[in-house]
Amino acid sequence: MTQISASDAPSMGRRQFMNLLTFGTITGTALGALYPVVKYFIPPSSGGAGSGVTAKDALGNDVLVSEFVANRKPGDRALSQGLKGDPTYLIVNEESEITSYGLNAICTHLGCVVPWNGSANKFICPCHGSQYNAEGKVVRGPAPLSLALAHAEVSDDKVILTPWTETDFRTGEKPWWT
Ligand code: FES
Repeated sequence: MTQISASDAPSMGRRQFMNLLTFGTITGTALGALYPVVKYFIPPSSGGAGSGVTAKDALGNDVLVSEFVANRKPGDRALSQGLKGDPTYLIVNEESEITSYGLNAICTHLGCVVPWNGSANKFICPCHGSQYNAEGKVVRGPAPLSLALAHAEVSDDKVILTPWTETDFRTGEKPWWT
């Protein structure tokens, strides 16, 4: 299989993103394995990383925060389409609000989309077993780095995602993704 690193990988195409949301975790392993190959042949999307984007759902519609939190419970993490079209987890906190950060779902090992495992309270990559804690910090390799962060701000019942350029609060280090 062609190997690409997460940092080299072009943005995920919208169609692939939609497929991922449609098929969900049942086919997560297969899709996760296929993702780096598919992505290799897809040109980068035109979405800009330098400015904010509105998080989209599986149908390409704006995520509505009121609906999003009403259909989920505290602690849930659910995929949306985020910066550069990348699959991005939005997180519901204990107050049933969207947390102020989202997590890029692309594994920092070889680029599979990492599913959330609620019962284990971790993100567990189906491709080679890397694990990330609930905040996306890598806790088991081979992934070398934590999941990338994005700011998530609620405005007019929508979620605005903007690039995270500040210190990574999980590691105390500069963000590797900027
Ligand atoms: Fe290898 Fe995630 S792509 S562990």
